[in-house]
Amino acid sequence: MAPSFVAVAATRLGVGLIYAIANVILPIRLLIWDLALTLYNAFAPLLPENKVVPEGRPGANGLWPQYIPPSETDSRSCCPMLNAMANHGIFPRDGRNITFRDMNTKVRETFNFAPTFCFFVPHYAADMLNRNYWTDKFDLSDLNAHNCIEHDASLCRVDTFHNPDQSKPARRLIEEFLASGTGPNGDITTSDLSRMLGKRRAESKAKNNQYGQTTFHKLFGASKCVYLPDSPAFVLTCYSGSTLLTICGGRTKDLRPMLLEERIPDEWQPRIRNPGGLTMATFQTTVIKVELGIKEEVEDTLRLLRMGGIGDDAKNQ
Ligand code: HEM
Repeated sequence: MAPSFVAVAATRLGVGLIYAIANVILPIRLLIWDLALTLYNAFAPLLPENKVVPEGRPGANGLWPQYIPPSETDSRSCCPMLNAMANHGIFPRDGRNITFRDMNTKVRETFNFAPTFCFFVPHYAADMLNRNYWTDKFDLSDLNAHNCIEHDASLCRVDTFHNPDQSKPARRLIEEFLASGTGPNGDITTSDLSRMLGKRRAESKAKNNQYGQTTFHKLFGASKCVYLPDSPAFVLTCYSGSTLLTICGGRTKDLRPMLLEERIPDEWQPRIRNPGGLTMATFQTTVIKVELGIKEEVEDTLRLLRMGGIGDDAKNQ
């Protein structure tokens, strides 16, 4: 006998409700966990400079497994640090069949990001790729899907419009970025990063006529305001770029091999020494400082206001 309308409707509503509750509970649990870790970090003593990577894990005491550059058939991504992990054999060297859960654990051990970040980002990546975080695997090149997580105006890759292969470092851009440091020893500061991100966004806008045509952009265009960049997708450049200031301390000496060769230098250890790792809350303070310092975004917004208002522009998206 076919199930009654009431049974079908009740099942659908029940399952929908469970999903909705789970979707609300997960971020709340993550937020509480992250705040607890941030609090713990505020009081716990820092790890010794040369002992941030846990004992027994790749990179402990600054001893990184052998670096082997990728072959033409290896899978590589638009993320220099995930590629570096594969180049050192922390991920499979061919860059294939990595579980999202393994990405979580290994990124945490290698870079001392907090467990909350290491859960959130791979989970987000799995969602964006329409995979299951708990059971599925991915190849590094899967992350190159344009406007999924990969996006235009990056510091280390030219736009997909100019080069669809997002797996290889863009030497000219990286050299320019490394030369932009105004800190001690030419290291990268927060304002250097804001300046270079602004420059990349302006370049992309001028030379890439597909720039800004993301679903994100269309969906969120109407919410554009004085403080927000063109699209939330582009805020991601700011997130990934900010790892260079936090985890790598902006040190160009280390960033050169990391970005150009996707190699972790001998004896390198993460600059974040808190035992709870770099939490999302703490990371956010750097990201906000960098994003709010991008003067091109303010100039654009003022230009739009002069041209007749942000609302009009949003209608034209
Ligand atoms: C946890 C898993 C991670 C995922 C899924 C991921 C994913 C990505 C993706 C998709 C991009 C390309 C963004 C773009 O188009 O500009 C990217 C870029 C980048 N990521 Fe990752 N990443 C992860 C972890 C990390 C970690 C741990 C670090 C640093 C220690 C890092 C540093 C960077 C940097 C520096 C860039 C280049 C940004 C640019 O070119 O503007 N990522 N990442």
